[in-house]
Amino acid sequence: MHQWGHPDAGLLLLYKKNEMVLHQSIAIIGATGKMGSALTKAIAGTANDLLVMGRDSHKLKKLSKSVVARAELIPIHCAKDACWEADIVILAVPANVETEVARKIKDVVTQKIVISISPDMGISLLQEELPNSKIIKAFFNNTPAELESAQLNNQTKCNVKGDDKEAVQTVSQLIVSMGLNPVVESIQAAA
Ligand SMILES: NC(=O)c1ccc[n+]([C@@H]2O[C@H](COP(=O)([O-])OP(=O)(O)OC[C@H]3O[C@@H](n4cnc5c(N)ncnc54)[C@H](OP(=O)(O)O)[C@@H]3O)[C@@H](O)[C@H]2O)c1
Repeated sequence: MHQWGHPDAGLLLLYKKNEMVLHQSIAIIGATGKMGSALTKAIAGTANDLLVMGRDSHKLKKLSKSVVARAELIPIHCAKDACWEADIVILAVPANVETEVARKIKDVVTQKIVISISPDMGISLLQEELPNSKIIKAFFNNTPAELESAQLNNQTKCNVKGDDKEAVQTVSQLIVSMGLNPVVESIQAAA
């Protein structure tokens, strides 16, 4: 395991500087759920735009009102529309609907990073559904409370794994900007 982003490493400072440069559009599918809303709140504190997708208009409106975003936050009802606009997609849905959602967004996530947060789904299954996307696993070992309080400490570990080195780096950078400490697992572990 390779750990980076430790406050003493200097790398954190580098990432903080990079945060000024990194300005991505991030779609959260299932944003009104426990993990989705915690991720929305944590990412809202970064310089990235957010496209928050939820099926329930009432919950979506409530979430949008409760979040103060540094960049743009757009509520969206359709997963495909949210992913069309995004550079990075986070699937914050139950493991048993990941495949169904992947099929809906397949055409609009080519060459994009798709993050699965489920501890119960391997990379290879999602990669089969989305062969032209860069599949990353992250946030699967964090609780909603850890994500929401992340900006206070930078000590909470967040495991990241994936085959695409550049995508792993980009997601690690996002994780640092959220106030978490990324721990990159080896490619073999991600298989
Ligand atoms: N909770 C945790 O502590 C935790 C920790 C680490 C990882 N995870 C993982 O995070 C994922 C989400 O868990 P959660 O606890 O946040 O679940 P949750 O609170 O039940 O939220 C699930 C979200 O997915 C949405 N959703 C469900 N079916 C959908 C579909 N077919 N299309 C689009 N959206 C759909 C739900 O929308 P509606 O509100 O409209 O139903 C809801 O917004 C799971 O894979 C879980 O294993 C959870």
